[in-house]
Amino acid sequence: MRDTVLELTDLQVEYGRVRAVQGLTLQVRRGQIVALLGPNGAGKSSTLRAISGVAPVRAGSIRTGGQDITRASAHEIVKAGIAHVPEGREIFTALTVRENLELGATTRGTTDQLDYVHTLFPRLAERRSQKAGTLSGGEQQMLAVGRALMSKPGILLLDEPSMGLAPIVIRELLARMKEIASEGLSILLVEQNAAVSLPLADHVYVMATGRLRASGEPGEFEDAAVLAATYLG
Ligand SMILES: Nc1ncnc2c1ncn2[C@@H]1O[C@H](COP(=O)(O)OP(=O)(O)O)[C@@H](O)[C@H]1O
Ligand SMILES: [Mg+2]
Repeated sequence: MRDTVLELTDLQVEYGRVRAVQGLTLQVRRGQIVALLGPNGAGKSSTLRAISGVAPVRAGSIRTGGQDITRASAHEIVKAGIAHVPEGREIFTALTVRENLELGATTRGTTDQLDYVHTLFPRLAERRSQKAGTLSGGEQQMLAVGRALMSKPGILLLDEPSMGLAPIVIRELLARMKEIASEGLSILLVEQNAAVSLPLADHVYVMATGRLRASGEPGEFEDAAVLAATYLG
């Protein structure tokens, strides 16, 4: 389809005998925020890790911009414009904010990109010399997103960014995500929290135990509470 920047077709991810993802098909278009919802153990993180080249793909395909990246290396996938903000953030607490951001820079990233991240998250500019471990949870999540943006991606994979954050901090973070999507960046947003992701999403996929259970426009799901009660357990 025109404008499709990420396309999973019948993706299957297996760790030995554990079948984490058992045939997932989804598309993300340019500038879209696509929510991938599901309870714990649904296979959401495995999906993102497979896209990033760090979880074993058993079958199916992953394409970006006409390029088949199903068997590409993690490095090649970053070069293809995909950046991953992992569950739990995984920032380097003993390094400064600035050093963490520099680690995200690749051949795609430039000092312009650092300026862009600082404009998006002024807090990271203010705290550039501070050790990342001294930041609040919300600031650490901003740093994890900022680090991913340093590679100048076209697609951002976000794994449960709201986890452990206060509602007001989540709203602030997601407002920034909406802003970058409106500039043309595509976001695949993994969440267990339907209330957080529904208002933001252009399209919603719901998975459980490795399979797709539902998909549609956010408006097709009555509301976040019903969606959560039906699918998210
Ligand atoms: N590295 C791994 N080795 C073996 N099993 C795994 C591994 N990572 C995840 N799993 C299993 O795969 C399934 C899906 O996990 P995951 O993708 O983390 O789900 P979610 O992110 O939706 O909570 C779970 O049953 C989990 O225990
Ligand atoms: Mg997960």
